[in-house]
Amino acid sequence: MFVITGAGGRTGRAAVLRLLAAGHRVRAVGRSTQRLADLAAQGAEVWEADPLDPVALTDAFRGAEGIYAVIQPNYLPDHPDFGAFQDRVAASLTTAVTESGVTRVVGLSSWGAGHPEGTGPVKGLHRFEQRLSAVPGVDTLWLRAGYFMENLLSHVHNAATHHRISAPFDPDLPLPFVSTPDIGARAGDELATGTWHGTEILELQGERDVSMREAVGVIAEAVGADDLTYEQSGIADFHAELRDSGVSVDVADMMAEVGEAVNSRHTRMEQPRTGRTSTPTSIERFVEEEFAPRYRDNVRRG
Ligand SMILES: NC(=O)c1ccc[n+]([C@@H]2O[C@H](COP(=O)([O-])OP(=O)(O)OC[C@H]3O[C@@H](n4cnc5c(N)ncnc54)[C@H](OP(=O)(O)O)[C@@H]3O)[C@@H](O)[C@H]2O)c1
Repeated sequence: MFVITGAGGRTGRAAVLRLLAAGHRVRAVGRSTQRLADLAAQGAEVWEADPLDPVALTDAFRGAEGIYAVIQPNYLPDHPDFGAFQDRVAASLTTAVTESGVTRVVGLSSWGAGHPEGTGPVKGLHRFEQRLSAVPGVDTLWLRAGYFMENLLSHVHNAATHHRISAPFDPDLPLPFVSTPDIGARAGDELATGTWHGTEILELQGERDVSMREAVGVIAEAVGADDLTYEQSGIADFHAELRDSGVSVDVADMMAEVGEAVNSRHTRMEQPRTGRTSTPTSIERFVEEEFAPRYRDNVRRG
């Protein structure tokens, strides 16, 4: 039996489905079994545990052959100290691994997590890696995923209404765009069949590197918007826009740091691109299946 944390989230849900499809027993953990009802209908055992509750998580992990550990959610935009929240979830997951006696863990981390500083929210994932990897007798595989394709979905409204996508990234810098279902599927595969020992790191770099200019070109073609353009925003403007939209100073600082870290290549992939570090979903497929339908809805609704 495998236990998946963050089962209601993007990567967790995909991990559950992958393991069920391969015939494994799966315990899907979230804060509300109601929100996991569709996974129960597909054969998962659903289990309520808040990621901040180490006792509930320990119960959830007992008897597992392996677990998928994820600090969720991706962001809490209005949190005054998101790093402290990440540390509390990391501590809770680590206590539960220790107390439950689980010996195999696939953990979700990020490109840039080798650095202790200068990487925005990825600093919290660095500390998560350090903390959990220190538990003796546990084989842990860290999936250091690239930049989520799903991050592009925050631009749907501006693309549809202002025909512009802006972000702090250099327009022509190749980015390792990766889809979250691919990450979850890989987590499931590694839990079921992986042969790693001790602490290992595996970067997930996506199908190929894609710059923001290229990504926006793919979107423009898919939605038939010739005038859709990419504009690189300055870090200060980006920070101000986030603040205007209600993001806390702490989280806006972190997001701005991501822009600087990626542009300066402080955050970069370090393993060679191989079949193992690549994942199948192309930017074209993501845009067709996820971005374009939302864009068209947005245009229809005005
Ligand atoms: N964005 C990127 O480019 C990127 C790149 C690499 C790594 N990452 C990492 O990926 C991880 C996120 O993974 P994901 O995308 O699979 O997760 P996710 O989809 O963001 O997780 C969403 C789930 O979090 C739970 N949640 C929501 N608010 C919460 C709260 N206040 N407290 C506790 N749980 C809450 C909800 O589940 P329930 O309601 O069912 O509990 C929700 O379904 C993060 O650690 C992030 O740092 C991100």
